[in-house]
Amino acid sequence: MKFVRSLMKTAALANVPKHIDHYSKFSPSPLSMKQFLDFGSTNACERTSFVFLRQELPVRLSNIMKEINLLPDRLLATPSVHLVQSWYIQSLMEILEFLDKNPDDQSVLETFVEVLEDIRNRHNEVVPTMAQGIIEYKDAFGQHDTVTDHNIQYFLDRFYTSRISIRMLINQHTLVFNGNINPAHPNTIGCIDSKCDVTEVARDAYESAKLLCEQYYLGAPELELRQMNANDIRESIHISYIPSHLYHMLFELFKNAMRATIETHEASRTLPPIKVMVALGGEDLSIKMSDRGGGVPFRKTERLFSYMYSTAPRPSIGDRHRAPLAGFGYGLPISRLYARYFQGDLQLYSMEGYGTDAVIQLKALSTDSVERLPVFNKTALRHYKLSLEADDWCVPSKEPLDLAIYRAANCVKITAVTITKL
Ligand SMILES: Nc1ncnc2c1ncn2[C@@H]1O[C@H](COP(=O)(O)OP(=O)(O)OP(=O)(O)O)[C@@H](O)[C@H]1O
Ligand SMILES: [Mg+2]
Repeated sequence: MKFVRSLMKTAALANVPKHIDHYSKFSPSPLSMKQFLDFGSTNACERTSFVFLRQELPVRLSNIMKEINLLPDRLLATPSVHLVQSWYIQSLMEILEFLDKNPDDQSVLETFVEVLEDIRNRHNEVVPTMAQGIIEYKDAFGQHDTVTDHNIQYFLDRFYTSRISIRMLINQHTLVFNGNINPAHPNTIGCIDSKCDVTEVARDAYESAKLLCEQYYLGAPELELRQMNANDIRESIHISYIPSHLYHMLFELFKNAMRATIETHEASRTLPPIKVMVALGGEDLSIKMSDRGGGVPFRKTERLFSYMYSTAPRPSIGDRHRAPLAGFGYGLPISRLYARYFQGDLQLYSMEGYGTDAVIQLKALSTDSVERLPVFNKTALRHYKLSLEADDWCVPSKEPLDLAIYRAANCVKITAVTITKL
């Protein structure tokens, strides 16, 4: 019996590339916040959701699995990336089992919820495991290669966005159809709050970051929070959003702002406060967090969004008792993905020598908040095949001036590769 089961498993595994090819030919179907809300409201139909997900989840999984396969071979071969890949294969196979199941059978729907919960748990550690894979790769094969760095950044942005979206679908289905209504939050549908109180989430995120900051520095800057609801100045600001996503972004920004403030004002007796302004207009919900933490040079601003870029010492991953305030270099890039996921954005404007403004832009209307999803196609493929090309803007020479003049005078054609290496 055991032998037969293992044979069946091997046969199913052999078919996985065929399934990935098939489902990756479909584009994912982005949903709007409004659709999520309507889908989960009183007339929610578990059967419809099941039929949608057993097609949509394989499509989203397969689209991103195609891109995993395009990573450099030596990165794919690391034990961590191997593990992540095996989780994706396992989850895909588990969902495909439901293809020939009857949607009118209640027990099928119940099993589906259980399987989705298992999948969500299986994928809990994807972000640190993938990060570990990149560390293993960089440690083994050297630190710097512009093309690989570009590809990894491009891949991780898409991979983590895909993961956020898959978890969103799974969470909505399992929370809406597990039968538990949360009486404390009547406006909550799954993980979406149709009346998410933005300043309340900001205060919560501040308090958590403050606790952490006090553990490390024995103090934390104060918070000054203001809001402006242009639609009704007497009303506080509410939007349809996922409170956990908003909290994540704000918590990361507060941690960064606190660390910068304290490290810049080490010698002074008072700390300048962190100022947060929340504004709601007809189209946008904007949150600006301003610190006086000394800022960063303009030249480095985009680099702050690189995975693993951090100016803090790298914390040990195994230390689960003490959450670090900084050090993985994932805070900003992942927060930007959350903001972009529903067509928003996150940007930093720094004034070196003074401080930083971090601005989160979100859509105010649930009809405008539509999932932003990666799709595997020729354009994506081209990104991974990108080779070193000459810049179409002159790159200032770092050579001593007289050598540069000598070369120009002798009409030495500096190749693209030489230029980009300078
Ligand atoms: N408000 C800020 N003022 C000054 N520097 C900042 C600010 N925010 C971010 N930075 C710089 O950007 C780097 C990257 O930030 P990011 O949040 O992505 O990673 P981290 O804080 O180092 O680690 P973690 O992943 O734990 O958040 C920081 O190490 C810091 O040097
Ligand atoms: Mg951080």
